[in-house]
Amino acid sequence: MVGRKWSDGLLLAVLFACVWWPSAAGGAPGGAASKAKVDLKSSTYLHYKQEYRRNLLANGLGLTPPMGWNSWNHFACVINETVIRETADALVSTGLSKLGYEYVNIDDCWAEIARDYHGNFVAKNTAFPSGIKALADYVHSKGLKIGIYSDSGYFTCSKTMPGSLGHEEQDAKTFAAWGIDYLKYDNCNNGGTKPTVRYPVMTRALMKAGRPIFFSLCEWGDLHPALWGAKTGNSWRTTNDISDTWDSMMSRADLNEPYAELARPGGWNDPDMLEVGNGGMTKNEYMVHFSIWAISKAPLLLGCDIRNLSKDTWEIISNKEVIAVNQDPLGIQAKKVRSEGDQEVWAGPIAGYRVAVLLVNRGTYRYALTARWDDIGLPLETVAEARDLWEHKTLKNTFVGNISATIDGHSCKLYILKPVG
Ligand SMILES: *[C@@H]1O[C@H](CO)[C@@H](O)[C@H](O)[C@H]1NC(C)=O
Ligand SMILES: *[C@@H]1O[C@H](CO)[C@@H](O)[C@H](O)[C@H]1NC(C)=O
Ligand SMILES: *[C@@H]1O[C@H](CO)[C@@H](O)[C@H](O)[C@H]1NC(C)=O
Repeated sequence: MVGRKWSDGLLLAVLFACVWWPSAAGGAPGGAASKAKVDLKSSTYLHYKQEYRRNLLANGLGLTPPMGWNSWNHFACVINETVIRETADALVSTGLSKLGYEYVNIDDCWAEIARDYHGNFVAKNTAFPSGIKALADYVHSKGLKIGIYSDSGYFTCSKTMPGSLGHEEQDAKTFAAWGIDYLKYDNCNNGGTKPTVRYPVMTRALMKAGRPIFFSLCEWGDLHPALWGAKTGNSWRTTNDISDTWDSMMSRADLNEPYAELARPGGWNDPDMLEVGNGGMTKNEYMVHFSIWAISKAPLLLGCDIRNLSKDTWEIISNKEVIAVNQDPLGIQAKKVRSEGDQEVWAGPIAGYRVAVLLVNRGTYRYALTARWDDIGLPLETVAEARDLWEHKTLKNTFVGNISATIDGHSCKLYILKPVG
């Protein structure tokens, strides 16, 4: 059933891609093409496109981008079972779980440096004295899912715990026995071997482990994981780590964008986890961050302290209309369709013959931005109604040919355009 749904989705996606992106055959529109690291028309790309259709990681997960929380961006290595439990509690008590945030993901530093006598992972006793199984049971009892972290090398990036290289099957079985639902798999201390050799070993181990586990490849974009990720994992990092600054965030967005055509239900480009609420950007900058991640069909993994959300953070991460764009059933990643200096237009089709349009002013000064129908893939004569997703209102006027807005520096407007009449 899952397989059928997926292929229907793909067919729809392909049909839409043809309708909405008439210029696709002639190269990516706007300024995006020049930034692409890969030639999307090359025979290698076409080969991979055939390959990944044949080799779908058949765990049925990730039909829409995953949503949840991960410990790294706020807590780094300073984690323990208390903070994980309290975060699970807070996801429920704030109402975020009802909005779709379901994964509670433990990142690096959860295990002892030494495996046990049988070669099994051991939870770090000072931080997780009750063990991971008990924590998983607790998280599940809240109606949530739990994720864990390992590495495709000998040690994780923190070097405070082992990686899974050479222990893939054993570790996958351990994770399944604990009730783990999601694995983030890092790329540190790997002895210099290729990720295309190391990652599929864990894919096969997870498939044999007897429990569907979302497989998140954290390969940092080194060897274009977008080209081989779909047969290996449910998402793949296209960049190295984000940090909590405007420049870092926007550069992750830029690096992720050229791979848009390779995202689809079951496999997503991942520009790294959200920094919204961690304090390094303004509210408007975080709105740009959340908007780009949403229309890019990126995983929406919160990275702040859920136990202590400010009103501004809550307003951003709880925006149902923006979340709905991310979770749209077509699963088509938006593209940067025009870029002029610091002014950018991003757009992508969503279900119901609608299009999500993001106007981003990357400059410092207020500026008038325009999205033209021929850039965003609407027929020129289309009359469209515009819904402003941050203002939560449908604009009184309808629009033909273009829509404009005057936007402050480091700010955005996110619209859904719907053809009318
Ligand atoms: C658990 O981790 C949190 C977050 O880093 C920290 O504030 C708290 O002191 C830790 N608790 C224990 C018992 O170590
Ligand atoms: C809660 O967040 C505020 C900022 O919104 C910060 O000043 C405060 O230190 C945080 N409290 C804790 C316990 O982390
Ligand atoms: C936008 O469209 C209107 C007509 O609907 C037209 O008058 C105007 O020149 C267009 N603006 C731009 C910047 O294309």
